[in-house]
Amino acid sequence: MGDTTGEFVGTGLYKSYAGAGADTPAAPVLADCSFHFEAGKLNVVMGTSGCGKSTLAYLLAGYQTPDRGTLLIDGEPVTGAGSDRLLVFQETALWPWMTVEENVLFGPVSRGQSRQSARPKANALLDRFGLADFKDKYPSQLSGGMMRRAELAQALVNNPKVMILDEPFRGLDVMTRELMQEYYLKLFEDTRLSTVFITAELEEALFLADRIYIMSDAPSRIVKIIDVDLPRPREISCTATRRYAELEQEALTALYEGRELEAL
Ligand SMILES: Nc1ncnc2c1ncn2[C@@H]1O[C@H](COP(=O)(O)OP(=O)(O)OP(=O)(O)O)[C@@H](O)[C@H]1O
Ligand SMILES: [Mg+2]
Repeated sequence: MGDTTGEFVGTGLYKSYAGAGADTPAAPVLADCSFHFEAGKLNVVMGTSGCGKSTLAYLLAGYQTPDRGTLLIDGEPVTGAGSDRLLVFQETALWPWMTVEENVLFGPVSRGQSRQSARPKANALLDRFGLADFKDKYPSQLSGGMMRRAELAQALVNNPKVMILDEPFRGLDVMTRELMQEYYLKLFEDTRLSTVFITAELEEALFLADRIYIMSDAPSRIVKIIDVDLPRPREISCTATRRYAELEQEALTALYEGRELEAL
């Protein structure tokens, strides 16, 4: 962690899904989508529901391949999934029959590391995320926020060079969500772990991001980049500053540009 690898460069990416029937045309989701997600930065991608955010996450993680265009990580084409690029989903990735600690040990052990040698790092991460007293519990015994923290530990134990988070805190209540954002912010500010964080929430984007990449509606591409120059380390109080309000206005304008506001 902390070295500056994990840079993504996408150029002219296209992605379609086949239609429901043989005569249904493929619907383009991404069209001419280009970006440069710098290493060591907290890159946030924002867009409305259904615009193709998860599709982009799957391409970055190597779970799917683009129809056209190039996608590079640290200058090399992305070919398939790897533990160097970990995708944390909005749905839980914890195995229900394993304890929290076993879940976190799963990655290193499945790659041949002994439990004993993997345990110190796993436990340090559980400690960092306030789960030391819950490591022997099963996922069903955890709250939603604890599950999200266990998933972060489960991903980070593999020493990824980039974290891809696809709306990881969606569905949590407001207080828990804010707490989770603070956990991730602190982790990022301590390690500068390259991050692509996908969200549909502007407040979350502004609080976390170095840069916000705004996607258009499908067929989507990046239409606007906003540099979030709020100083780090950030506290929640930064959301009450004048600069925050200016950035919020800039982002709102970009998000609504070209869209008809529904009559209320
Ligand atoms: N496997 C698939 N097969 C066919 N269509 C798909 C598939 N996955 C996604 N789509 C379609 O592609 C479009 C983009 O989906 P995607 O999940 O990438 O959007 P999203 O921005 O992540 O949405 P959300 O905010 O709801 O998570 C949607 O219209 C969706 O129905
Ligand atoms: Mg999605």
